[in-house]
Amino acid sequence: MLFTTVTSFLLSALAVRGAIVPQAPASDHIFVTPSAVPTGQNVTIAGVNTYVSLPKGDFDETRAVVILMDVFGFGKTDNFLLTDNWADNAGFATYMPDYLLGDPLPQDGSVDLNTWILNHTEAITTPPLLAVLNELKSQGIEKIGVSGYCFGGLYATRLTQNNTVAVATMAHPSLLTVPDDYELVKAQSQVPVQINSADLDTGLTPALAAEIDQVMVGYVPGYNHTAFAGVGHGFAVSANASDPIQVAAKEEAFEISSNWIRTHFDTC
Ligand SMILES: *[C@@H]1O[C@H](CO)[C@@H](O)[C@H](O)[C@H]1NC(C)=O
Ligand SMILES: *[C@@H]1O[C@H](CO)[C@@H](O)[C@H](O)[C@H]1NC(C)=O
Ligand SMILES: *[C@@H]1O[C@H](CO)[C@@H](O)[C@H](O)[C@H]1NC(C)=O
Ligand SMILES: *[C@@H]1O[C@H](CO)[C@@H](O)[C@H](O)[C@H]1NC(C)=O
Ligand SMILES: *[C@@H]1O[C@H](CO)[C@@H](O)[C@H](O)[C@H]1NC(C)=O
Repeated sequence: MLFTTVTSFLLSALAVRGAIVPQAPASDHIFVTPSAVPTGQNVTIAGVNTYVSLPKGDFDETRAVVILMDVFGFGKTDNFLLTDNWADNAGFATYMPDYLLGDPLPQDGSVDLNTWILNHTEAITTPPLLAVLNELKSQGIEKIGVSGYCFGGLYATRLTQNNTVAVATMAHPSLLTVPDDYELVKAQSQVPVQINSADLDTGLTPALAAEIDQVMVGYVPGYNHTAFAGVGHGFAVSANASDPIQVAAKEEAFEISSNWIRTHFDTC
């Protein structure tokens, strides 16, 4: 009897034990002078300012990639360049909706992150994001793949849970509840999902990433987690050009995530 009580107490403790992956402060990110000038355009889609980059040559107009950006959003040139990279080098029509609604977190640390977050809760951020996704679908885009970075990793996970997109990838996601959010994915999603993590990330630590891996064992739609050594949070968005480890990790993360989306577009 006592044993049963203790066990059920432990089990109920386990059920609420999910650890929330913190949103990394501005100081955890790399800020480098971008090496290129963005080539895409801002287009209003469903009332939401959206940065759009189209491949130079022919492309499949029934498929698109949506970039779910970090907290610096439209205030960080690297986010535009990342979107261009998906169009130019992966060959997808690529859309980055401004779900921060013109209010990115300043890079200089002048705005308190926790206060800023209160103005960018899921209740505020999700409607513009879904409006853009719905509009793209109504324009004939049949398969949408998402790639979430940091803050955007939460939305990549939500869209996976809700089966809103065809395929998902993300890098160093934050604000997730681990393992709960992936237990939900495992229970109700048909979306193949890929995660790139950084061994030096203090948010999604290697230990938390390993908890997700454990949950995702046997996930039929498809799961891949690739951990990168020697890099920290935000490495898939920005790399210091003088640091070969960062440069290589950013490129490899892009290759893995774009191949993931391409492969699953072809099979889903
Ligand atoms: C897109 O909008 C953002 C934010 O308003 C602005 O900083 C950026 O320069 C614009 N890009 C283009 C290509 O117009
Ligand atoms: C949050 O939004 C409110 C209302 O628009 C605004 O007054 C406040 O300054 C915002 N807080 C931050 C940290 O941006
Ligand atoms: C996912 O579904 C839940 C429950 O219907 C909803 O509250 C939430 O806004 C959805 N999120 C996304 C990103 O679609
Ligand atoms: C994840 O994908 C990468 C790139 O395709 C591959 O090298 C790696 O073996 C995969 N990891 C697992 C656990 O399958
Ligand atoms: C970039 O890397 C170089 C060489 O390691 C280093 O001196 C410099 O401080 C780094 N810059 C930033 C912004 O981290």
